[in-house]
Amino acid sequence: MRPLLLHLDHFGSFREPVTVDFSDTEYFALVGPTGAGKSTIIDAICFALYGTVPRWGREGAVAHALAPSVTAGKVAMVFDSDGRRYGVVRAMVRDAKGAVRTKEARLDELDPAAPLQEAFEAVVRPLAEGENVTAEAQQVTGLEYRFFTQCVVLPQGRFAEFLHAAPRERQDLLVQLLDADVYERIRQRAARDEETARQDASFARDQLAKLSGATAEAERELTERLAALRRLAGTMGADLDLLRARESDIRLAEQERAAVAERQTVLAELRMPAAVPTLASARRAAAESVETLAADVARLEADEHEAYEALTALGDRGAPRAALAALDARERLETEAARARAAAASAAEALDGAAGEQAAAEQALATAEEQRERLRDAHAAAHLVNRLEVGLPCPVCRHPVAELPRHEPPADVRAADRALAGARDRAQRARAACAKAETSASMHATQATRLESELAALPAPGDRAELEARLAAIAKADELAAQARDAVRAARAALERARSEADKVARQAESAWRALEAARDRLLVAGAQDDPPPPLVREDLHRAWTELLAWRDRAAQAARAALAEREERLDQARARLAADRGRLAERLAEHGVHAPRDASPDQLGAEVAAAVARADSALDRLKEERRRAADLENRITMKEHEAKVAHELALRLRANAFERWLCAEALAVLVASASDTLRELSDGQYELALADKTGDIEVIDYGEAGMRRSARTLSGGETFQAALALALALSGAVARRLDSIFLDEGFGTLDPATLDTVATTLERLAAGQERMIGVVTHVPALAERVPVRFEVTRDGKGSHVRKAGIR
Ligand SMILES: Nc1ncnc2c1ncn2[C@@H]1O[C@H](COP(=O)(O)OP(=O)(O)OP(=O)(O)O)[C@@H](O)[C@H]1O
Ligand SMILES: [Mg+2]
Repeated sequence: MRPLLLHLDHFGSFREPVTVDFSDTEYFALVGPTGAGKSTIIDAICFALYGTVPRWGREGAVAHALAPSVTAGKVAMVFDSDGRRYGVVRAMVRDAKGAVRTKEARLDELDPAAPLQEAFEAVVRPLAEGENVTAEAQQVTGLEYRFFTQCVVLPQGRFAEFLHAAPRERQDLLVQLLDADVYERIRQRAARDEETARQDASFARDQLAKLSGATAEAERELTERLAALRRLAGTMGADLDLLRARESDIRLAEQERAAVAERQTVLAELRMPAAVPTLASARRAAAESVETLAADVARLEADEHEAYEALTALGDRGAPRAALAALDARERLETEAARARAAAASAAEALDGAAGEQAAAEQALATAEEQRERLRDAHAAAHLVNRLEVGLPCPVCRHPVAELPRHEPPADVRAADRALAGARDRAQRARAACAKAETSASMHATQATRLESELAALPAPGDRAELEARLAAIAKADELAAQARDAVRAARAALERARSEADKVARQAESAWRALEAARDRLLVAGAQDDPPPPLVREDLHRAWTELLAWRDRAAQAARAALAEREERLDQARARLAADRGRLAERLAEHGVHAPRDASPDQLGAEVAAAVARADSALDRLKEERRRAADLENRITMKEHEAKVAHELALRLRANAFERWLCAEALAVLVASASDTLRELSDGQYELALADKTGDIEVIDYGEAGMRRSARTLSGGETFQAALALALALSGAVARRLDSIFLDEGFGTLDPATLDTVATTLERLAAGQERMIGVVTHVPALAERVPVRFEVTRDGKGSHVRKAGIR
């Protein structure tokens, strides 16, 4: 790990952002007064990588990163490690309760070609964030925090940690520095490889055991068998042809036997239709029945004709019916006319009465009117009397009134008015009744006159009895004609049935003839050529059938004899085939080919061909197995060898023995190298050595006759010398990948001569240009000899850094 850029912002005593550039320096000093912030810069390197700082004590105590008055801060660093470039950033905040927490932490691999000032932006790949950053930083530096602070950063006041460390602790550090744990991993891997190789060998042996039959002897036997089978296949063609000929003989014999059997079936199936024996008599009876019924129909048709003639002679029913109806109408009209005459007479009579009543009413009215006029006059006269004066002219007669007449008071005129109104009303009603009676009398008289004239216009009436007798005679004749018609219909239906019966019998006969002909035709086809069925005699169906059945019985007997003879021939053909096939099967069996007893020639041929193919592929398989067996033997040898090598390796590395040996060797080299440096620094007084029993580092004091004592007994300055010698040896001789070392103080304990030696040693180390050396010192004599100085100062605004004094 070699820092290139370190950025601090509100970290520790630094209150303003500052970037320290280490990129162009191999050897530098951090100088400045007490409390200026020198150690804080070294802390920042540590904090950037591991998130903690040695002087805080407890790991992870991030609270100390920020000064109490600061709310947020940040540390970032660009560094190289093992040929790659990295950027690490940690930012902290203080929350409302005053607790400090990490706000952001990240570690990225950076592009080494990018300019340093832009390095943080040139991210090649992110490596870790948050809590994972410390573990990843450990991977990148190759050192745990506890070892980083022993051999990269030697913190102020704690530089002797490695010198005083327990042997076990030192061993752990060396294991990390030397990556010595790789040997344990190699051992474990070797043990696994041995196990795998043994399993492989065992598996291969199992496989080989399964191939025990794959021998050269087996291959020779199989090759011979294949050759024998091929010879058999080449020579069995003639045998198969013979078998095929035998099979053909059998097929022919089977066909012949089947033909005879077919003939037997045809003969056995021959049956005379059941109706044949009675068909002739049935036909005759049907013909007779038709004849009789036809005669009946003819006779009944004549009867029907006669009945219809008689009916026609009686004439139509219409005329007598119309005459009867006219008679009925006349009688109704006469009744009506009589009724009308009576009504007219009674109406005339009523009119006379009404006219009398009207005249009386009129008379009464005139009387009432007159009486009322008189009464009115009387009232007028009585009224006038009152105005008359004797001597004055009378207004009625114009004569002077002589004496005033005396008038009785007249009756009340209102009674006369009522009597007059009653008379008027009665006269009115009498007038209306008379007018109504007049209308009714006139109407009845007119109707009576009309009916009379209608009656007079009618033709002379017929004789009712005579008309009714005519209609009865027609009805009788009609009934007789209907009966005759029904009888004809019934006879015709019977005739129809008889004819259809006759047709049915005729069809049966026809069908029986056809059956006979068809049976005869089949017999002609299936029958023996030398004994055809008898010729057909067309006249008599029954006889024809009988003759054919008689012939059938003879032919059936001949067919039975023929069938026995064909079966014997077939048995002989089959026996010949079985004998020939048996002989061939024996030959095949001699070659290990077993065919079914009734195998066909093609099957036998196929069996032999299949046996050849099987033997062929078995031979191929065997050859393949022999090849595989050889491979397996080679594999077993190889795997056993591999297992042996892995076993040896694991044995050599067992129980960390090699790791311990390696670390012990490294420690011896380290102590020897440090011893040389210490001798130089102490001007020949001290050397270092390892205690045999405890493994502690001891000093050999040549001031005390080379006696050994514990390193813990050294003075402060001597301890620093010894620790520095060890740190330089670690950095230089043992772990070349530790490409930087930072020493914080301790130089103040050295006398000028020793300081000079230390300075020279550091300069020599820096001149090698393999590692960066940073020292923190108050000692001007040392500081002046360092080529690059970072002057750290502190004022009210916090710490500041300035690069100065480049020689
Ligand atoms: N977490 C912190 N917050 C605030 N101030 C701090 C913190 N840690 C240290 N300081 C102060 O910062 C100042 C610088 O400390 P630092 O240890 O860097 O000084 P120095 O330059 O190394 O001094 P010396 O020469 O005495 O070793 C000191 O005053 C110290 O008390
Ligand atoms: Mg300090």
